[in-house]
Amino acid sequence: MLNQINLTEIDTSQAPPEEETKRQYYFIAKCRESVAKLQKEAGRPLTFHVQTFGCQMNARDSEKLVAILEEIGYQQTEEEIADFVLYNTCTVRENANQKVYGHLGYLKGEKKKNPYMMIGLCGCMMQETKVVEKIRESYSFVDLVFGTHNIFKFAELLYSRLQSSSMIIDIWDGTEQIVENLPSERKFPFKTGVNIMYGCNNFCSYCIVPYVRGRERSREPKAILREVEQLVKDGVVEVMLLGQNVNSYGKTLPTPMTFAQLLREVEQVEGLKRIRFMTSHPKDLSDELIEVMASSKKICKHFHLPLQSGSSRLLQDMNRHDTKEQYLALVEKLRTAMPDLSITTDIIVGYPGETEEDFEETMDVVRKVEYDSAFTFVYSQRSGTPAAKMEQVPEEVVKERFNRLLTEVNEISKRRTGRLEGTVQEVLVESINAQDASFVTGRLENSTQVHFKGTEEEIGTFRKVYLKEAKGFYYLGEEVAE
Ligand code: SAH
Ligand code: SF4
Ligand code: F3S
Repeated sequence: MLNQINLTEIDTSQAPPEEETKRQYYFIAKCRESVAKLQKEAGRPLTFHVQTFGCQMNARDSEKLVAILEEIGYQQTEEEIADFVLYNTCTVRENANQKVYGHLGYLKGEKKKNPYMMIGLCGCMMQETKVVEKIRESYSFVDLVFGTHNIFKFAELLYSRLQSSSMIIDIWDGTEQIVENLPSERKFPFKTGVNIMYGCNNFCSYCIVPYVRGRERSREPKAILREVEQLVKDGVVEVMLLGQNVNSYGKTLPTPMTFAQLLREVEQVEGLKRIRFMTSHPKDLSDELIEVMASSKKICKHFHLPLQSGSSRLLQDMNRHDTKEQYLALVEKLRTAMPDLSITTDIIVGYPGETEEDFEETMDVVRKVEYDSAFTFVYSQRSGTPAAKMEQVPEEVVKERFNRLLTEVNEISKRRTGRLEGTVQEVLVESINAQDASFVTGRLENSTQVHFKGTEEEIGTFRKVYLKEAKGFYYLGEEVAE
């Protein structure tokens, strides 16, 4: 854990400090005292469970929330029913929202049985006014609601809730603040995400993210490098640099710098083995980035390049600022510079006004690019976005197209994944295999999973593995001697 301040040195009898990092450590210490009292009263340790919905950004935020709860003295449990249950929510598509309401319905009865139980909600969904209204009215048993902009205030907000008996709601419209050096935990000891920027300025017409994550803000390169260096000292060998559009990193910094320049610097961190990044918008992908990537020993040869649609007409309507031809030319450029590159994508089916011809353009790109894998989504109407007001494509039409796309994507993906069969590759071992404990599971540079005989000691290490058999989306392998 990257712990900057020693909790035992904080004088909680004083007023809270102004400086934000110190302030939050102060409230962690205050919460710790309150939770210790509660544990004594309950005669048992109090547990917590954080459940994450949505993207890598939320996953990284959750690592920070987990670290704070651990510092406070709660014990983590895999069980969903815990003394403190926190849902870090996503609202990119309606089904993500429905899941959260489903979970809340289930918790209601459980909370009645446990006087120590508290429920917290945070993340993107909470940035929507109508969601918070619904929680207030129909889910009044929830204890704490906060959003994406004030996530760093978690300890302070939790302390307010521990001091009062009513629901605490604190949602901000936005913030300029980037609070560094708060506690941070990792799901895997050997890999993690590192935020390089927050928010999004692109306003793709279907997307709610800019409304719930606010304006684009880049972290200072020094802060990013310091974090990566500390992580490596702490055993991390793989980092994923995170942003909604990493290709526009650094544009708004006092001393502007490009994403490619940042990558060059991250590459210099000794001991770091693999660098990934997510997500790249095709409109800002520079030649400089392709060059840096092609010549790098550490940047994984894997590019996630969201397509959304293959129809130039729809791309324009989506406010994506690129065309089918530009996208295909980019792919060509990437493949010329890096022949082994794995390319993955995101595709939306059923965007308002999508015709059969538009859809066929998407299928055409899918066939031409031959993605290693593709996340395919049914368009979901998000209130407040321009596309929500447009005429929607009938559900049956969308379903039929979606199935056609999925069949195509899966077929290509199987073929592409299998191309490394019979070769020896480097695998970063991540876990014991869920089905067979005499096997371990790891990932190739392009993120494909490999299962092979191994032991717990290998977790977090790189192994040379012979990819004996391609099994659709993963490989069965055999470790070879160094
Ligand atoms: N910033 C990233 C994407 C973040 S959201 C980018 O621009 O690539 C992840 C994916 O969710 C998007 O790429 C898009 O394919 C999908 N998505 C976003 N809004 C959606 C909506 N309203 N309906 C369906 N899919 C959506
Ligand atoms: Fe959404 Fe577009 Fe921003 Fe991605 S770039 S988060 S799709 S608005
Ligand atoms: Fe979802 Fe928020 Fe990520 S809406 S996709 S969790 S930025």
